[in-house]
Amino acid sequence: MEKVNLKSIYLKFFEDHGHKIIPSAPVIPENDPTCLFNTAGMQPLVPYLKGEPHPQGTRLADVQKCFRTNDLDEVGDKTHHTFFEMLGNWSLGDYFKKESITWSFELLTKHLNIPIERLAVTVFKGNEIVPADTESAEIWEGLGIPKNRIAFLGEEDNWWPNMELTGPCGPDTEIFYWRSEEQVPTDFDPENDNWVEIWNNVFMQYNHNTDGTFEPLKNKNVDTGMGVERVVAVLEGQTDNYKSSIWSNIISKIEEVSSKKYDDEKYTRSIRVIADHIRAVVILSGDDAGIQPSNTDQGYILRRLIRRMIRYAKKLEIEINSNWEQELAKIVINQYKEYYKELERNQNAILEVLSNEKNKFNKTLEKGLREFEKLTTNIEGKEISKDIAFKLYDTYGFPIELTEELAKEQGLTVDLEGFKQKFEEHQEKSRAGSEQKFKGGLASTGEMETKYHTATHLLNAALKKVLGDHVHQKGSNITAERMRFDFSHDSKMTDEQKQKAEELVNEYIKMAIPVEKLEMKKEDAIAMGAEAMFIDKYGDVVTVYKIGDVSIELCGGPHVANTSELGKFKIKKEESSSSGVRRIKAVLLDE
Ligand code: ALA
Repeated sequence: MEKVNLKSIYLKFFEDHGHKIIPSAPVIPENDPTCLFNTAGMQPLVPYLKGEPHPQGTRLADVQKCFRTNDLDEVGDKTHHTFFEMLGNWSLGDYFKKESITWSFELLTKHLNIPIERLAVTVFKGNEIVPADTESAEIWEGLGIPKNRIAFLGEEDNWWPNMELTGPCGPDTEIFYWRSEEQVPTDFDPENDNWVEIWNNVFMQYNHNTDGTFEPLKNKNVDTGMGVERVVAVLEGQTDNYKSSIWSNIISKIEEVSSKKYDDEKYTRSIRVIADHIRAVVILSGDDAGIQPSNTDQGYILRRLIRRMIRYAKKLEIEINSNWEQELAKIVINQYKEYYKELERNQNAILEVLSNEKNKFNKTLEKGLREFEKLTTNIEGKEISKDIAFKLYDTYGFPIELTEELAKEQGLTVDLEGFKQKFEEHQEKSRAGSEQKFKGGLASTGEMETKYHTATHLLNAALKKVLGDHVHQKGSNITAERMRFDFSHDSKMTDEQKQKAEELVNEYIKMAIPVEKLEMKKEDAIAMGAEAMFIDKYGDVVTVYKIGDVSIELCGGPHVANTSELGKFKIKKEESSSSGVRRIKAVLLDE
């Protein structure tokens, strides 16, 4: 099947229709510490969808780096990926249904040469907020999509993102493609899996407020999303995403370094995992956000991906100490640098992250193997208990299959049921943890992270003093090693301003001010002048942290009890984060 250069065809088409092609935002949301990754093309555009003017105008298109890590364990099948690319075009109060649908149709049928017989669409059937979208259905019909290929579905299918999530939203129309060799049925049955969704056009007209109301947005916007991996596979006639041209160079290299074949069923899954993970790891570590492997947040995902990839490389008997991962990474960098220029700039960092983490994990693996020997020499009976199996999994990163294999060699069995149960309990816990994160943006609460949280409040206050009251927090990101703080201000800070801000924070620390936690009504907090980044996200009663007369902010905490605990505050860097937003990187040092 012919190779389809989807990204360039798509972007060129929308450029020809008056859209500005904007670069992908970083994989980490810049102004929203409550989310680990961008999961859709519209996410970095939320402020503009809500009505803020975009510097590039009212018609935009891009390919956005996205991550979804909720079902990491499913990667290995035909369709799941951790990193994926999303093509999107947007109208910010410019065109609406007619143009959006007509252009989608034109791009699909004229430029990507999809026969109209293979297309079907769904439109919104209406609810108490919005009536049925007969307008979209009529536009589709006018373009030649017959009635029996247009399905009216409810809010579970045709409302984006869904009725629960807050923020910009609206009804959508989804486009489906008949992927099977079988004759295309006359009627469209959305339940038939041979109909694959290839594009989603959202008519984003509402903001879902936290009080449950749907408030009409200032503008009627269009937000569309097309998953590159899926659509390229579809267009190239593949039912296995990994068989499309996107993956061919990466998979050939894995076949070469392992001397195993993708089509050999024994190895297909492992090769898919390695292919997915190397791509994800290169994109993550090559992002300008500068993510390093760690035990928290994005750094933890990066670490898990590298380790998981190495375990699967072992299964394929790849010589781990050879340069296999560097060679693979270079292929990914080459393939993606045209769209993500940062990959070339950050090439050395990417390669270094990979080799450092590989060496670290290699040591744990060796230790794990020794631990296995120790734990199993003296076990009673013939069964490895759930506790041992879980310790090997949790502490040494042993997949249960590896424990099973090793057990078998020694004539032992594994309490798989017990392990599964423990594993699920553990997942429940970490899921609870990540939900917590989504709510408060503060999953990791180690001692250093707590100090950094308090430091962000002091820095916010200091910047207001030095630069003016227009300064507000726009985002933050904290690890045990450093803090990042984004704030509204539209010019580079002078050395003098930086020094002043740093001195002020250190003064606040020296003043040994107690940090008070107060609960109050939201309107009282606002009346007191409390700073809040996402005022809408909070309920009626809020937690406020007050640091003497220096700072008062709505915040979930945690914080230190007294500013004197922080040590010495040092600004490492001040740079641009996005338009009108500056970013400070800073550390706390022992006195
Ligand atoms: N934001 C919409 C999606 O991700 C287009 O499907």
